[in-house]
Amino acid sequence: MTSNKKKAASGVREELEQAASKVMKNAHAPYSNFHVGAAILLTNGKIFSGCNVENASYGMTNCAERTAIFSAVAELGPKIEIKAVAVTNDHGVACSPCGACRQVIFEFGPDATIYFQAATGPKQAHITELLPEGFRLK
Ligand code: THU
Repeated sequence: MTSNKKKAASGVREELEQAASKVMKNAHAPYSNFHVGAAILLTNGKIFSGCNVENASYGMTNCAERTAIFSAVAELGPKIEIKAVAVTNDHGVACSPCGACRQVIFEFGPDATIYFQAATGPKQAHITELLPEGFRLK
């Protein structure tokens, strides 16, 4: 990668992480006390963000990543294409998208780059590294 491209990529990461950290404060996470924020960059340049929304019936919980994606679809319709996703949490610990979110990211972003905190530090990965053989109905 050229240094200009690297700079642009780190700018995108920073901007998405800022948006994710801001919305993380709105999380409804009384059961886990783990606040998560996610922000997505679309190929049209728009950014959407979301937080986790838990429920007393635990399985109904919606992760931050899916909240962000569903908000984008609700506003712009289903033809969105995700270019990048960033995930933040209020514990500063490793946190990559869960399996369900990987499949949802893949639906709208088969070429998306994911920025997240790994056990070894900040990491970026292509969605197909996180979700090999993602499912598609076409
Ligand atoms: N969570 C997310 O929102 N995104 C992730 O990438 C990992 C986990 C949420 C789900 C639940 O509300 C809390 O974190 C603890 O699992």
